[in-house]
Order: sequence, then structure tokens, then C-alpha cells
Amino acid sequence: MAYVRVFDNETQVAGAAAVIIASAILHKPNVILGLATGSTPIPTYRELIRLYQNGVLDFSRVITFNLDEYCHLPAEHACSYHYFMRKHLFENINISAGNTHLPNGNAPDLAKEGIRYDMAIETAGGIDLQLLGIGRNGHIGFNEPAEQFTYESHVADLTPSTMEANSRFFEEEDMPFQAISMGIGSIMSAKEILLIATGMDKAEAIRKSLQGDIRPQIQASILRTHPKAVYLLDQAAASQLDCSKA
Ligand code: PGA
Repeated sequence: MAYVRVFDNETQVAGAAAVIIASAILHKPNVILGLATGSTPIPTYRELIRLYQNGVLDFSRVITFNLDEYCHLPAEHACSYHYFMRKHLFENINISAGNTHLPNGNAPDLAKEGIRYDMAIETAGGIDLQLLGIGRNGHIGFNEPAEQFTYESHVADLTPSTMEANSRFFEEEDMPFQAISMGIGSIMSAKEILLIATGMDKAEAIRKSLQGDIRPQIQASILRTHPKAVYLLDQAAASQLDCSKA
């Protein structure tokens, strides 16, 4: 069962998430972090940058693997996750570029790229702490609702709900309809999982993932079978939880 903690607002969620990540780095300077993109983790990354600027954190030996990347979008594109990570975290801390990893959505053979990415994670020693957001449809990474869980990194067709949610970032052009995503296997193999969710539009996905059946139609529900999964929520994201089931 996941440990759930509810905070008043998004700032407090970010503060708590940053403390957990900072503690992992302080305990293991060469920690392997799984990282996420999207609006939710931005305040957490801001907190981590502040801790670095204050001399609390040293990222020089930290290794990162991101969850996903769009297919067929240049890494330099302002909507790519390569660009997102540089802008919101990497260029503001002393991490070594060679220690940061994202799947290559422009690889000529995307199936091979998935295999390469999983092997890279495994060879590095597996993820110590995986940071996750959650989609309105319960996805984690781009593991979209499906008939079964996909364990390997794979190319995912984005669902209409994800396309609608993410199209806000693509102003003048069509957004990609596919992404390459870490699978449920690498996520669940992480030693610890930290899921953050804020805002009313996540309330239903949070309720279904924590209090509905464990099923691939709500991919995040599998996190309940992880021995060390922590959910940090704001009041809005927690608002549909039935406290009698806690
Ligand atoms: P968001 O995305 O943080 O932008 O809401 C989260 C997700 O889709 O996993």
C-alpha cells in the first residue's frame, strides 16, 4: 500500500518532494534518479535548484534517467523533454551532461532504442528514486491506459486525453502523437517511488489509482504493489479520496 501525504498547496508538495530527493542525494552522492516532465514537477525542480545554489546539494555525481520523450521531435525543440530538462533543471545545477539520460525519440529504430534504454538503466544499477507525475487518465510516464501493463520501454500512441492535456505546450504546430516511454518494469524496479499530484484535474486519477482496482486501464494503480511508494498530494488532488478507506 502506498504511503499518502496531503498538503495544503502545491508549494508544500514541492518542498516535501525536494526534501525527499535531497535526502537521497545526501545519502548517496551518485544516486540514480528517475525524473519526470510536465507542469507538476517544475516547482520541485525549482526547490532543488535553490538547495544547490545554497550549497546544500552537489549534483556532480548524480545520474538521471527520464521517463519519456516525444517521437520525431528534435531534441532542440522547445517542446521536447530534452529541452524541458535542460531549462527547468540541468542547466541550473552542476550535473554532468554525460550523467543525464533521456530516451532518443529520433532513433532510426525505436524498438531498439527501447531495449538500449532499459539496458542502460540496468547497467547503471537500476533507479534508486523515481519521481512521477500522473496523467488525468492515470498514466505514468507515457504508459497509457491499456489492456495490459507493458514492462519494457516502448513506443506509445498517445490517447486523446493526453493529446488534449499536452497540446497546451504546442502553440502553432501539431503535437507528436507518439512517445517513447520507460515501461512499468523499470518504474516498478525503482527502489523508491515518489508520485506528486496537484490540482483538481488529477483528483479522479488519484482516487482511481489509490482506491480503485489495480488494473492496466489505470496504470498508476500498480504502484500500490510497490513496497516503497509515496504519494504527495495537495488538497485538490486528494479531494475525491474516500477517507474511510484510508
Ligand atoms: P502534468 O503531467 O504534470 O503536466 O500534469 C503529468 C503527466 O502527464 O504525467
